[in-house]
Amino acid sequence: MSDAYGDRGNKDRSITKESKASMQPGPQHGEAHPAPGGPFLIGDTMTGGYGSGPDILHECTIAVDEGEIAVIVGPNGAGKSTAMKALFGMLDVRAGHVRLAGQDITELTPQDRVKQGMGFVPQTQNIFTSMTVEENLEMGAFIRTDDIRPTMEQVYDLFPILKEKRYQAAGELSGGQRQQVAVGRALMTRPKVLMLDEPTAGVSPIVMDELFDRIIEVARTGLPVLMVEQNARQALEIADKGYVLVQGRNAHTGTGKELLADPEVRQSFLGG
Ligand SMILES: Nc1ncnc2c1ncn2[C@@H]1O[C@H](COP(=O)(O)OP(=O)(O)OP(=O)(O)O)[C@@H](O)[C@H]1O
Ligand SMILES: [Mg+2]
Repeated sequence: MSDAYGDRGNKDRSITKESKASMQPGPQHGEAHPAPGGPFLIGDTMTGGYGSGPDILHECTIAVDEGEIAVIVGPNGAGKSTAMKALFGMLDVRAGHVRLAGQDITELTPQDRVKQGMGFVPQTQNIFTSMTVEENLEMGAFIRTDDIRPTMEQVYDLFPILKEKRYQAAGELSGGQRQQVAVGRALMTRPKVLMLDEPTAGVSPIVMDELFDRIIEVARTGLPVLMVEQNARQALEIADKGYVLVQGRNAHTGTGKELLADPEVRQSFLGG
């Protein structure tokens, strides 16, 4: 594969910075290597729901590979967040499996999944509003015992506004800046895969573009990114792989380009 990003709609290479290669996941969180042929992270035919409630997911499969951005779209209540929570271990997966780097992690707690290299930014309450920006980043690194300063500098490099506001309470920041704090917090563990649930929720189109550019920049360092997005069209434009979920099931799967070109997907989910 000569160009891992060839399928992506966003051709703006000006945001690529070689220096960000150092954001690449460190070797300290595990020794596992992907099974040959298997995606780096996969929720494989997951069926499950909350507590003893009914199944929300029905044989739902979501995967992201190294160097990729995978995007989950679909109507409200389709189970997008539920699929993310299932991958992260916050849901009872009654059938199916979650595998990370070839290892079955279906039974692991979320904490253990973080240790295995999963970084997750939930849809809501993803920052500590009364803490400063820098304290939020420090909290993100809670599982680490080594020097976190270089990673913090990388996060500030990626999101310069956070450095400017590092001593300010995160709750005082704008919506877009808070999302940067949330993503930065997740990066502090030096994850091997980054999962973002609606990282552009409630921000202006300009801020959305900016956040997408930063996410592409992170993905270019080799860190696989799996994200849920309500801005379906824009998200599929930057997606190597896209999933349309409907009522907890895979309705359409393909490259971002394929889904954008699919008349049925356009009609039902992209406004024609
Ligand atoms: N904690 C919970 N306990 C029980 N049911 C839940 C819980 N969270 C979500 N659900 C149900 O699961 C279904 C899927 O919800 P989910 O939040 O995964 O959808 P979504 O696709 O992320 O929607 P949105 O676009 O609004 O974020 C809904 O029927 C919802 O009511
Ligand atoms: Mg959701």
